[in-house]
Amino acid sequence: MTNTLLILPGDGIGPEVMAEVRKIIDWFGAKRGITFEVSEDLVGGAAYDKHGTPLTDATMAKAQEVDAVLLGAVGGPKYDKLDFSVKPERGLLRLRKEMDLYANLRPAQCFDALADFSSLKRDVVAGLDIMIVRELTSGVYFGEPRGIIKEGNERVGINTQRYTESEIARVARSAFELAKRRGNKVCSMEKANVMESGVLWRDVVQEIHDAEYPEVELSHMYADAGAMQLTRAPKQFDVIVTDNLFGDLLSDLAAMLTGSLGMLPSASLGAPMANGRPKALYEPVHGSAPDIAGQGKANPIACILSFAMALRYSFDQGDEAARLEAAVEKVLADGLRTADLMGPEGGKPVSTQGMGDAIVAALDAGL
Ligand code: NAI
Ligand code: MG
Repeated sequence: MTNTLLILPGDGIGPEVMAEVRKIIDWFGAKRGITFEVSEDLVGGAAYDKHGTPLTDATMAKAQEVDAVLLGAVGGPKYDKLDFSVKPERGLLRLRKEMDLYANLRPAQCFDALADFSSLKRDVVAGLDIMIVRELTSGVYFGEPRGIIKEGNERVGINTQRYTESEIARVARSAFELAKRRGNKVCSMEKANVMESGVLWRDVVQEIHDAEYPEVELSHMYADAGAMQLTRAPKQFDVIVTDNLFGDLLSDLAAMLTGSLGMLPSASLGAPMANGRPKALYEPVHGSAPDIAGQGKANPIACILSFAMALRYSFDQGDEAARLEAAVEKVLADGLRTADLMGPEGGKPVSTQGMGDAIVAALDAGL
């Protein structure tokens, strides 16, 4: 099967970190025989500058066709005054919406060399490897009715949490499938004690488990208790599945257990396509970082680890993904540090390019 990849570098540090991912992609082609049919296009402000829209219909159509989209970042101060309808973020939102990417995967993985970067104690986080699966296309961010209305002589802000059974079932399946490839454990989080949508969430996750994944260990937790457990003893978890709102908070919380924004990858997955591969968008969690753009300071690891996720979840190359993650671990253990990773204990300063080159060298050394 050919492997097709659409690269959308975007704005700010997006193109800089993506250039380093290109080196990795080339390495896998040359040294491991894993080749990709790569196309590259514009998104966000870059697309707006050229086409007057943050995502053209042609790019959207291409994204629907490929096995995986790899995106850098969008946005920047230059575009802050634009009308909402053509803001850079709209490009990303359109991709997520039209590809119907309902499962957002946010790993929180603590590389040993960076354990002192965490706000928690080293032994609480060292070796941490958990995955938060956040429902991304429904829930309170989308439910109707919504708005600000007038009631008597005051204003009322309204949002509605709404989940259908099928929306819960499909993201639950994503979580169970992931767990089978990992530690075989899922913890589902909601607020079934105070929300009807939470009661339904808990019931449906349990039903899918009992009918389709009885071999996976399932537990349920109220999301507020989950937040406490994530900071108290995060290593008790393997896969956490939760709704859009709680997932937004819990994934950011879990991310910070592991240190820098420059290290965090993500994947957003949708339904399987005709070739069996899921619709997929991979991107670093960070934004376009205009404060450091164009200075060779950006850490490319978040984007490189996003490509590792693509290897694992779109191209069924879990071993090669692990190879890439091990190369990242190696350069960190060797003390190489982009500016964002430079802690009080110091390290060997490297640029964006230097980090990319070192990871390629570590891949070579690992053969
Ligand atoms: P940001 O993530 O771009 O930057 C926050 C801070 O982290 C900055 O100090 C930045 O220098 C640093 N940082 C981020 N990524 C880094 C990396 N790879 N290496 C080293 N340091 C890194 O978030 P911010 O500043 O709130 O937003 C900047 C722009 O990015 C805005 O236009 C915002 O709308 C956009 N944005 C885009 C996102 C996306 O494309 N998915 C996500 C978040 C923000
Ligand atoms: Mg957030």
